[in-house]
Amino acid sequence: MSLPLPAVLVVDDEKNMRLSLKTVLTDEGHSVRAVESAEDALTVLGQEDFLMVITDARLGGMSGYELIGKVHARWPALPILMITAYATPKLAVEAIKAGAFDYLAKPFAPEELLHAVARCAERHRLLHQNANLRARANETYQLEQIVGDSSVMRELRQMVQTVAPTDARVLILGESGTGKELVAGALHCLSNRRNASYVRINCAAIPEQLLESELFGHEKGSFTGALKQKAGRVEEADGGSIFLDEIADMSRPLQAKLLRFLEDGTFTRVGGTQELRVDVRFIAATNRDIIEAIRQNEFREDLFHRLNVVQFRLAPLRQRNQDVLLLAEHFLKHFGRTIKKPARSFSRGAQQKLLSHHWPGNVRELRNVIERALILETSNEVHSGSLPDFQIETGLRKAAAPKAIGLESLDQMMETFERELITAVLEEHHFSLTKSAERLKLSRHALRYRMQRLNINTGSDTEEETASPPGKDDAP
Ligand SMILES: Nc1ncnc2c1ncn2[C@@H]1O[C@H](COP(=O)(O)OP(=O)(O)OP(=O)(O)O)[C@@H](O)[C@H]1O
Ligand SMILES: [Mg+2]
Repeated sequence: MSLPLPAVLVVDDEKNMRLSLKTVLTDEGHSVRAVESAEDALTVLGQEDFLMVITDARLGGMSGYELIGKVHARWPALPILMITAYATPKLAVEAIKAGAFDYLAKPFAPEELLHAVARCAERHRLLHQNANLRARANETYQLEQIVGDSSVMRELRQMVQTVAPTDARVLILGESGTGKELVAGALHCLSNRRNASYVRINCAAIPEQLLESELFGHEKGSFTGALKQKAGRVEEADGGSIFLDEIADMSRPLQAKLLRFLEDGTFTRVGGTQELRVDVRFIAATNRDIIEAIRQNEFREDLFHRLNVVQFRLAPLRQRNQDVLLLAEHFLKHFGRTIKKPARSFSRGAQQKLLSHHWPGNVRELRNVIERALILETSNEVHSGSLPDFQIETGLRKAAAPKAIGLESLDQMMETFERELITAVLEEHHFSLTKSAERLKLSRHALRYRMQRLNINTGSDTEEETASPPGKDDAP
């Protein structure tokens, strides 16, 4: 026997719409509470627990978007489904940006609505079953690796702990350097699959033509270079978890194959006919705006819905200022151990400087800044002089803006500028393609292509992507 689900809260100022939503949902066995304004919704939300909120974008008083923002801020774990007007993908983007879990564009079929509600019910059941699990020693350790005292980070750790032991698919969204990989690793390590493999694939780092064979394997002779049969990484992950990083960079044809795999767990190797089946748990992440990618027709909407069972959104560091010093101290301790330097704290000036920077590279940038500061620092305290001069750096970047000189065409000037820029970034990142591509927000593949086109030769072969154990960077 399963526990009864809490009611669905429907918010719509049109009576007919409220009634028809209510009928469709009640017929399916859901209890429903319907209100006509955002203001009423906020009142009842303060009084009762709900499974989810379904709101129209346009409401009489406060708009649906404002409502989402308010609900999201007070009850971040409550899923919100936004109903937007006819075929206006821009509104869907707005809805997701405001914090909606999903959206439906009018007109929609009752099944689409029921499908979205069923996913929330599934999520509720998964979360509820595990809400009472006590943290074990290993769990505490894994969770402590995710540093942060802001309310969003505390909520995040709680969610990781609750979701990890389930088989729920997880989609992790967030800017570069916000900790998506860290969270994915923790999800596997805290799951019941922790003793089986954790396979990590960076979809942006592997050339498009090879990614399919990497994922699903190939038969001998299926393409030039396929000298022998090769099992796919999904087979390696059987019984464990697979982390598909940079999922938005996957090509459309491969997305179709992945979708089939997600639907029934079956796949065929490249060039093969035999249908194979494995049991894997999916975790996917992207630092791109996935809704925008859907809008641009680069990412399949149905695949998004399949992956988006539980969604983690990692806030940029600039939005959780109270975590900056905590993280800085965490990294100071961490690098203090490896570099064996005495610095134990930050001077007031250094703290101020750290707090006033807006951290476009998020936690990764902070981590690099602290490592560098510790190397430069000779005293017990990290002083502001050992930190980069963020303002001057921003200023320099502006001053370095190119000027039109000589008789070069715009294309030639752009090429020169691009070459200089890419070379500088490569140098800054010790010629690591992965890191430089990250900095330039390009796929590694795209970066390599540009380097070839611009004749940039680093003189060394670049590092290869390999599956690395989660949390390796943070091990004490
Ligand atoms: N909350 C945190 N506590 C401790 N370390 C963190 C936290 N968030 C991120 N880090 C560290 O910051 C670095 C960047 O994090 P991570 O690689 O997970 O980012 P990401 O979101 O996957 O970025 P990208 O989109 O560029 O791949 C890692 O070294 C990670 O361990
Ligand atoms: Mg990552």
